[in-house]
Amino acid sequence: MSIFQPGLLKGQTAFITGGSSGINFGIARRYAEHGANVVILARNPEKLAKARQELEKTGARILDISADVRDFAALQAAFAQTRETFGEIDIVIAGAAGNFLAPSAQMSANAFAAVIGIDLLGTFNTFRASHEHLRKPGARLLVISAPQAVNPAPMQTHACAAKAGIESLVKSMAIEWGPAGVRINGISPGGVEGTEGLQRLSAGGLDDEFKKTLPIPRYASVDEMADMALALVSPLSAYMTGHIVALDGGTSLLGGSYSLAYLNGRNRQS
Ligand code: HXC
Repeated sequence: MSIFQPGLLKGQTAFITGGSSGINFGIARRYAEHGANVVILARNPEKLAKARQELEKTGARILDISADVRDFAALQAAFAQTRETFGEIDIVIAGAAGNFLAPSAQMSANAFAAVIGIDLLGTFNTFRASHEHLRKPGARLLVISAPQAVNPAPMQTHACAAKAGIESLVKSMAIEWGPAGVRINGISPGGVEGTEGLQRLSAGGLDDEFKKTLPIPRYASVDEMADMALALVSPLSAYMTGHIVALDGGTSLLGGSYSLAYLNGRNRQS
């Protein structure tokens, strides 16, 4: 159950990359429950169709678009289609991400480029392509970062570099786009139960051991991420821009060598 009033986003339009699964799908559902028209963009058409059907159960209007966030022209077309269908865009979430555990000395240049391309370039592409279609003033943009942005972590050079870049991009863009009435913020989740990201990083099976050592000794739920994503587009955050909320139970307080990636990767470096 949400603490926000029903219909908080009624008449508004939200565009969410990576919206067919995980945290981004949870946010899409929360926004749809609160009355928004929701566009989900992701690569896999079958996953998208299933997600759209699920979201339509809320009664909201849903559009699904299959595209890769590394393809700027495809994003331009997706925003044009969204504008034509729903009008000006109120909320954009750059949520699409890719990740895997790999030591940098063995990672191919293409593997590094794949994560930088999806996460960092994909975030720029999404926001840049949205710009001419945003409601100004009033639009709110969000990124989904990770503790890797501030915690250097072995096996995660690509994700650390990408997420650090994203957090920097948010701050610079917030300065530039603020005067037009566009706010840009982000959430940095730690481990979130039931997500592909956690599954990929916890393949070493040390989850239970690790989460008990966190300041808040558990992982988060997708619903907790969705509630924060609602708060960040609500009037509660009207005077907030260029900020990344660490919604990580204190994970980022502990530093890089303490990270999940390290625990899971410590036996795999040879
Ligand atoms: C080493 C790998 C690899 C792995 C792929 N590659 N997986 N290298 N270890 N496990 C290499 C490939 O060999 C290839 O290099 C290059 O990466 C690109 O591979 P493709 O399969 O062509 O990649 P692509 O289709 O671009 O897919 C990108 C991906 C993929 C990142 C590799 O796994 C993906 O998109 N995943 C999305 C789902 C996901 O992970 N979501 C959760 C994100 S969580 P070569 O040289 O062979 O061509 C997140 C937050 C983390 O980001 C923080 C949580 C705490």
